[in-house]
Formats: sequence, C-alpha cells, structure tokens
Amino acid sequence: MSSLIFLAIANNSLVGQLPFNIGYTLPNIQGLILSTNNFSGSIPASLLKAYHLRKLYLYNNSFTGFIPSFSSLPNLKELDLSYNKLKAGDWGFISSLSNCSRLTMLMLDGNNLQGNLPSSIGNLSNSLQQFFLRNNKISGPIPPEIGNLEGLSWLYMDYNLFTGKIPPTIGNLYSMVYLSFAQNLLSGEIPDTIGNLVQLSSLKLDWNNFTGKIPGSIGRCTQLQNLNLAHNSLDGSIPRNIFKIYSLTGELDLSHNYFSGGMPEEVGNLINLNKLSISNNRLSGNIPSTLGQCVVLENLEMQSNFFVGSIPQSFVKLVSIKSMDISRNSLHGKISEFLATLSSLEKLNISFNNFYGEVPRGGIFDNADAVSIQGNDHLCTSVPTGGVSLCSPQVDDKKQKHNSLVLVLKIVMPIVVTIIILSCIAKIYWRKRVQGNTHLQIVNEHIKNISYEDIVRATNKFSSANLIGSGSFGTVYKGTLQFKKDQVAIKVFNLDIYGAQRSFIAECEALRNVRHRNLVKIITSCSSVDSTGGDFKALVFQYMPNGDLEMWLKNKTLGHGERNILTLSQRINISLDVAFALDYLHNHCAPPLIHCDLKPSNILLDNDMVAYVTDFGLARFLFTTSNEYQDSSASLACLKGSIGYIPPEYGMSEEISTKGDVYSFGVLLLQMITGCGPIDEKLNDGISLHEFVDEAFKKNMHEVVDPTMLQDDSNAADIMKNCVIPLLRIGLSCSMTSPKERPDMGQVSTEILRIKHMALQMGV
Ligand SMILES: *[C@@H]1O[C@H](CO)[C@@H](O)[C@H](O)[C@H]1NC(C)=O
Ligand SMILES: *[C@@H]1O[C@H](CO)[C@@H](O)[C@H](O)[C@H]1NC(C)=O
Ligand SMILES: *[C@@H]1O[C@H](CO)[C@@H](O)[C@H](O)[C@H]1NC(C)=O
Repeated sequence: MSSLIFLAIANNSLVGQLPFNIGYTLPNIQGLILSTNNFSGSIPASLLKAYHLRKLYLYNNSFTGFIPSFSSLPNLKELDLSYNKLKAGDWGFISSLSNCSRLTMLMLDGNNLQGNLPSSIGNLSNSLQQFFLRNNKISGPIPPEIGNLEGLSWLYMDYNLFTGKIPPTIGNLYSMVYLSFAQNLLSGEIPDTIGNLVQLSSLKLDWNNFTGKIPGSIGRCTQLQNLNLAHNSLDGSIPRNIFKIYSLTGELDLSHNYFSGGMPEEVGNLINLNKLSISNNRLSGNIPSTLGQCVVLENLEMQSNFFVGSIPQSFVKLVSIKSMDISRNSLHGKISEFLATLSSLEKLNISFNNFYGEVPRGGIFDNADAVSIQGNDHLCTSVPTGGVSLCSPQVDDKKQKHNSLVLVLKIVMPIVVTIIILSCIAKIYWRKRVQGNTHLQIVNEHIKNISYEDIVRATNKFSSANLIGSGSFGTVYKGTLQFKKDQVAIKVFNLDIYGAQRSFIAECEALRNVRHRNLVKIITSCSSVDSTGGDFKALVFQYMPNGDLEMWLKNKTLGHGERNILTLSQRINISLDVAFALDYLHNHCAPPLIHCDLKPSNILLDNDMVAYVTDFGLARFLFTTSNEYQDSSASLACLKGSIGYIPPEYGMSEEISTKGDVYSFGVLLLQMITGCGPIDEKLNDGISLHEFVDEAFKKNMHEVVDPTMLQDDSNAADIMKNCVIPLLRIGLSCSMTSPKERPDMGQVSTEILRIKHMALQMGV
C-alpha cells in the first residue's frame, strides 16, 4: 500500500518483528503508531528511509538494540520510543536528531539508556517542547547545553543516576511548565536562575542531595502548583516567598531536610493547597494558627519537628482534612474536642508529644485504628483502649492541689491576657472605623478601575470566609469594594490553569458586548499584577444572595428544609429567564454569542429569585473569522464544558453552534422538572436524561416529575396536563440528538411564556 500515509494499530496484542522492508513498502508513510503491543526485535533500518515520517510512536513494546540515527528524517515531529528495551550506544542518535528541525516531542523514558548524556542535546531543535528521559540509568552531569532548548515546556529527567549540579543555564528555559530532576544523585545548591522559570507549574527535585538554602527567587515562579523538594539536605529557614505563590494548589513537600526556624505565618495564604508536608525537619515554635485558613487542605504532615504549644483552635476550619500527622513534636495541652467534629478526618497521629488529659470521644476518636496517641505520658481515656491508661476518678490530694495551681495558671492567666489583648484590639479597631468612615466620604463614587490592592481589601485578603465558590478557571469571593455600597462577587482567575488567560479574555470580550436583564452584570475588571509581580486577573460582578440553581436543585434532593424547595412557578420563571437570556445571545446580538457552558451552577438567583446566566469563560462568537480567539481549537473548546450538558455533536468535534446551547438548555429544563440531573444515579444502564423522560412519556408521566413541586394542589391533574407536560415536551425537543431537530431559543421562550400565562390562570 505504497500510498498509505497513516497507520495506527496501537493497543493490540501484536507480536513479532516489524517487516525489515517496511520503510520501502510504505514510502509515503507520515504517521506510524504501533504503541502498546508486544513487538520485538530492532527498529528496521528501512524505516529511517521513510522520508515523510512525522510521527513515530513505538512506546510500550519490547524493541531491542541501539536507537538508530534519524538524520534522514527531516520531517520528524514526534518520536516516542519510551518503555522498550532500547540502548543508547554511543548516543550518536542524539546528534542525528539535530537534523530534525521540526522535532517537538522526544520520549525516551523507560529504556536501558546508560552512560553520559552528550552535550549535543544542545543541538536539538528549538521547537522541542517535550523531552522525557525518566526511568533510565543515565549517569554523569546534566550538560549545560540543555539551556539551549528554549522551546522546552516539559523536561522529565527523574529516576536516573545524574550527578553534579543543576546547570544554571536551566534558567534560560523560559517556557518550562513541568520540570523534574527527582530521584537522582544531584548535589550542590539549587541555582538561583530557577526563578526565571515564571511559567513553571510543577517542580520536582525530591530524593537528591541538594544542599544550602532554597533560593528566594523561587517566589517569582508564580504559576507553581506543585513543589517537591523532599528528601534532600537543604537547610536554613523556609523562605516566606514560598507562601506568596498563591498558585500552589497541589502539594508543597519540604519534608526530610534540615530546615530550621519557625513556620512562617504566611502559610495561611495558601488557601487552595491540597497537601502540605514539612515533616522530618528541625522546625520549631508554635504551629501558626493561620494554617487554619487552608480550607481545602487534605493532608498535613508536620511530624518529627520541634513544634511547641497546642493544636491551634483555627484547625476547626480545616473542613477538608483527611490525614493529619503531628507526631514526634513537643506539643502539649489537652487534645482539642473539635478534632472530633472534623468529619472528613480519616487519620490522626498525635503520638510522642506531651498531650495530657482525657482523649475526646466521638468522631474520629471512636475509631481506634484511625488515631495514634501513644507516647503521650499523661493522656488517659474513659474507655479502655490499647496502651493508654484509664482516667481515674480519684486523684490524691497532693496531685489535686498541684492540679488546681496548674488550673489557675492555665485558665485564669490566659483569660486575663485575653481580656487585655481584646481591649487593645477593640481600641485599634474603633480608631480604624472612625478613620475608615471619614475616608469613605472622600472616596470618589465614580472610580471604575480597581487595583489588586482593592481586591485584596475587598476579599479580606482572599479570606476563606469570603469564599463562595470555585469554577474551572478560578475562585469566586464575595466582598465589598470601598466605592460601592452593595456586596459584589469577585471572580479571581487562576492563571496557571491552562486556558484561564483565554477564558478571562473570552469573558471580558463577551460581557463587553452584551446587556440583558437575565445576564449577570459586570461591575468592573482588574487586570494587574499581584504583590509578587505575577499576572493577576479578576472580574467583579453583582452579588447574588440566593446562590446558584444547582445549590437549589441539590439541596432539595438532600431534603434540607422546606425553604429551599423551588415551587413550580419559580421553576417556570427561572426557565423563562434563562430562555430569554439565550434568545438574546443567539438572536439579538451581533455577532451571535454562544455560551457553551450552560448548567445549573452557571445560573444565579437574586433576592427575588430572578435568574441570571453567568460564566462566559467558554463563550464564543459565531461567524467571526478575523477574531483571534477563534482558532482551530474553538470547535473543541466546548468540550471543557460540563458532562451531561455538552451536546453530543461536540464530542464528534463538530462546529459549535447555537443549537449546542439549546441542547444544554433542554437538559437543564428536564432536570428542573424531574429533579434528576443528567448524571444522576437514577439513570442506570447509561441512559440519558432525555431517554429517561422519553420512556416515561410512553408509560407513566407522573413517575418522573419531581413530587415536591405539585404538593397538595387540588387541580394537580390540570397543572400536569397544561404546564408540566408541555415543559417536558420542550425539554425533550431541545435535547434531541440531532441539532437540526432542536428548536430555536426564540420559539422556546415564546412557548414557555405561553405556559407561564396558563399557569397564572390556574393559580400556580
Ligand atoms: C540532514 O537533512 C538534510 C535535508 O534537510 C539532508 O540533505 C542531509 O543529508 C541530512 N543529513 C544527514 C546526515 O543525513
Ligand atoms: C552543534 O552544532 C554545531 C553546528 O552544526 C556544531 O559545530 C557543534 O559541534 C555541534 N555540537 C555538538 C556538541 O554536537
Ligand atoms: C504515628 O507516628 C509515629 C511516630 O511518628 C509512628 O511511629 C507511627 O507509625 C504513626 N502511626 C501511624 C498509624 O501512622
């Protein structure tokens, strides 16, 4: 088949050698995807004569022999040889690859590569973006020429035997996003130039022998989500700069080093951090109470340090915590009762400290396997558990006297001190208030552009108490701006998430062009730099006191009180509001705007339960060819939308269209009337919500209708016939698989308006 250009037979169970003449029989081949089979033997020399080859994927097979020369394949773009049994030989293949000027991906991990990495890697293509060498046995130093590969955004060299220092030229790799040198034998100091990698999202240097301090320049990596420096010989104090990297949302692991000094209070800035490990260091002082602000923290490892004091009361706010290890410190005090209320806590280790008194009961303490308390000499329990003494009711006189003295010191003293402190705070606060008020009067009402500082102030330093939600590209806070009386909602974009920047621009662009009663109003925007000099983008919207529709639909199914149940008339009004908004976007805007992410959580409700469509982060204008936001991936962008609400044709990479929004609306409408979401458990056997309702149409309609909606209505049958069923019909026709069969939002809103009038006549 000499004209064949693409052959993909990956993920099968094919065995044996490739035909030796494959390159001659397929002279036009451009893509050859053979990965994940069980091919063996060497890579046929003829393949290297297939001049047009661009993609060669051989990963996850059993190819043996030396990696050949690729110099005769100038079109090669993607070469994946990982997870085979290939050898490097004299590494000549690396210099041969310098002839492949279009190379963007080079994957060599999981082979038998040994010896030193040659400096000719510096001659690889500038367009190389992904370079994987992990899981080999490569030794010797990392060549400084690596710094020539300015296009690199992924560099994984972990699990090898590299020695020496990280070359400072690493700082030239400005596009770097994922960098790992973990699990090698590297030593010396981490180069200062690491701070030049401002796009870095993940940095892993764990399990090496790095010494010295963490370079302060790391604070410039303001996109970092994961930072792992564990298992090295780093020392000094933990630089405060680390805690200004607000993007840290994954893990921060500094464990098994020689860090000393106190834990900086600024750790409370990392409110989106998932895992914090500082165990096995020489950290001392109190555990900062600000740590309680890290409300999404799931894993906290602080064991084997020299922390003193007690468990901060603020830990009561760690509502996501699953595992907490504070063992082997010098903590003391009673074990706080609130630990029993942390319902997500699955593992608690407080062993080898100086805790005393009775172990609380309830919550995690009822599960002996989940809690380690050994090695605290003065702890006792009221129920017998292994290794800990029972609390005895009779305490002899001497001890009691001693205890009462301790009691006086422990209880009365703090109270006195607290009163003094409180009165000081009250004084300062009072003064501030007075100042604040006069300040307010001077402030100009017309200020429109706001600064980063304004937002910090409005959200009380992005305090967790102000947090009202989070979306795919950022976090939403409520707050009060100095120049505005009403509360506002502030959406802060997490710019290290791929696409967030674009989402901000898309949303600005969309909202600049639209104005409608049922679209959430933008008050202002902030495009600035934060305190560390990183990009900062936020949008300020009117605040919606009644939250989002999803909350209302969910609360109802959870059976939370009467108050949160939507009446039928509310449901009709909300669906009409949303239909109006979409009709406006599709039919009354020029160019038409497609929302692309319609779902209950993107519909907000104000005090009067008027619905507003929000979140235009995925919105796209239709028919704009010269628009820079309309690139080839625009048609797929909606796939970032939400499962269950994405129309099926987007999955087949069809162009986005207004009919896509109509589909999402249809699903939403069916959900509002049935109370059943598109990925609800009720929908077993993988049937869609559309099919579920459609099926019920043939049998018993009442079965699928949300029962809470029609409570004790004498004319329920009429309402069913004239309102509910017509609404379901609209929902069904909007969620048809074929876009052509779906109605236009103009028709839909007219139809719902008619149903609303009908409902009013029947006193709904
Ligand atoms: C490198 O590629 C060029 C064409 O781009 C070709 O002429 C030259 O022979 C190649 N070098 C080797 C060593 O094959
Ligand atoms: C890199 O390429 C240049 C120019 O082709 C050549 O002079 C140099 O020797 C090469 N370096 C290595 C280390 O192969
Ligand atoms: C609790 O911590 C101690 C000391 O660090 C350790 O020896 C023990 O294995 C830990 N227990 C659990 C269950 O992890």
